[in-house]
Amino acid sequence: MDRNLVMNLARVTEAAALNSAKFLGRGDKNAADQAAVDSMRRMFDTVDINGTVVIGEGEIDEAPMLYIGEQIGSGNDQALRVDIAVDPLDGTNAIAKGLPDAISVVAVAPEGNLLHAPDMYMQKLAVGPKAKGLVSIERPLEENLKILTKALDKDISDITVVMLDRERHMEYAERVRKMGSRIRFISDGDVLGAIISCFNHVAGDMLIGIGGAPEGVLAAAALKCLGGQMEGILIPRNNEEAIRCKKMGVECNHIYTIDDMVKGNEVAFAATGVSHGELLEGVNYIQKDVATTETLVLRAETGTVRFIKATHYLNKKPEYAK
Ligand code: FBP
Repeated sequence: MDRNLVMNLARVTEAAALNSAKFLGRGDKNAADQAAVDSMRRMFDTVDINGTVVIGEGEIDEAPMLYIGEQIGSGNDQALRVDIAVDPLDGTNAIAKGLPDAISVVAVAPEGNLLHAPDMYMQKLAVGPKAKGLVSIERPLEENLKILTKALDKDISDITVVMLDRERHMEYAERVRKMGSRIRFISDGDVLGAIISCFNHVAGDMLIGIGGAPEGVLAAAALKCLGGQMEGILIPRNNEEAIRCKKMGVECNHIYTIDDMVKGNEVAFAATGVSHGELLEGVNYIQKDVATTETLVLRAETGTVRFIKATHYLNKKPEYAK
């Protein structure tokens, strides 16, 4: 995949982050999300691709922009045909409440290479490169913890398990506690929750639990670039969701590996911090029309990991402004 495209993805997530971050702590998650969607959509028009949104803001009747199936990009006939997965704001509640770790995120792969996951729940397991191929979503949690302890050369009490702070995960939490490992509860944002398993300087060795399926595919794209492992099982909550799976040609209660979710090795990923976090700084408005961002940019083909810190002079960049 064209390496310049990868850098353009950073511009797309930066624009979404810069505009949605204005809503930090203002209690309006819809306005924050809308700002992220509008800016991301606008910036995609400047990117030289023929893209189809496969993970987006919802079906065409639910979302006017970045809906599943929407064609985006410059539209140039010669441009690369790609699948696009977006979450303009992963952590809408976090932004509304002024909490950390909200990000704007995109992934791009050649057409047909990203799983078209419906907007429903997915059971997830994600680990970094050292535990790749060793743990499994089919094994009991206790067994995975023991395997992880060996693979990471840690004591079991050093292992940190990441999960969304939800009632449905309390049984897992009890089992992790019984094994003597640590838990990092996250209020939102399990894309980042999965990614941190690949970075030693942020506590979090394994993400488990149920979160959004679209976020699962985005996390799989990042972990493919970082050499980690991700597995997911689509969990329908009702018959309607089971029917939607059938319609979209995906299977419920089936283990999707990272290679099922992201085929091949041509995938690129970008995430910009919206609110402050341990892995990525959030948007900081340092003076009128000047703001800073930090973006993680990944490319699977080369394995390059870039953290791009940028200072934006917004009065000189009409395409970034709302
Ligand atoms: P949005 O901000 O895009 O709504 O998603 C936030 C999120 O925390 C995801 O990261 C996660 O996968 C999902 O919501 C979990 O869903 P729920 O809040 O229903 O447990």
